[in-house]
Amino acid sequence: MADPLATALTGRLGCRLPVIQTAMGWIATPQLVAATSNAGAFGFLAGAVMKPAELGEAIARLRDLTPHAFGVNFHSFQPGAAEIVEIILANADRVRAVSFGRGPDAKMIGRFRDAGILCIPTVGAVKHAEKMVQLGCEMITVQGGEGGGHTGSVPTTVLLPQVLDAVDVPVVAAGGFGDGRGLAAALAYGACGIAMVPVS
Ligand SMILES: Cc1cc2nc3c(=O)[nH]c(=O)nc-3n(C[C@H](O)[C@H](O)[C@H](O)COP(=O)(O)O)c2cc1C
Repeated sequence: MADPLATALTGRLGCRLPVIQTAMGWIATPQLVAATSNAGAFGFLAGAVMKPAELGEAIARLRDLTPHAFGVNFHSFQPGAAEIVEIILANADRVRAVSFGRGPDAKMIGRFRDAGILCIPTVGAVKHAEKMVQLGCEMITVQGGEGGGHTGSVPTTVLLPQVLDAVDVPVVAAGGFGDGRGLAAALAYGACGIAMVPVS
């Protein structure tokens, strides 16, 4: 029988489990991201709150802490963003994905794609998902209002099927997930996995 946990997410990100640890400013440190990736999921480093030099140091530390690939979260409007993009690209052998809200244009997304880095924006509306795919993103995280409301108030259970019907790239479900039941539900919807903050 085929492994039900082998999805487009595990295939594209090279992890064992279809689970993403989302970035949290000041919390998604190299230690947390390495622990996530070493446990079989895929961790994102909280680059959106780092200066370029800090990010360079954090990536170097992370390279030592895990043999696995990992992701970096950043915003294209944060101070030093252009330098941050270059640091990420220079580490393309280990940085398998970037996550962001709004920001990168088609040119920047193309540069990541050419370097083998998957762009996985977090969106909270169907039109934003469609726009990101148009710009060249090859995977999308759809986050419902349960994810703290940062990306809008539409509940995950309403938004997720709408986005799954609207785009033809793999979709990750976020907002309110925290256990195996949630993962099973997201996969049943047709998502390729879940993205969540680690909960104890
Ligand atoms: C403490 C905290 C810090 C966060 N910081 C960031 C951040 O720096 N960048 C970002 O894109 N999302 C950030 N988020 C949002 C999460 O990455 C994620 O999208 C969301 O929490 C997922 O929903 P869940 O909490 O229901 O699992 C943060 C969330 C929390 C709880």
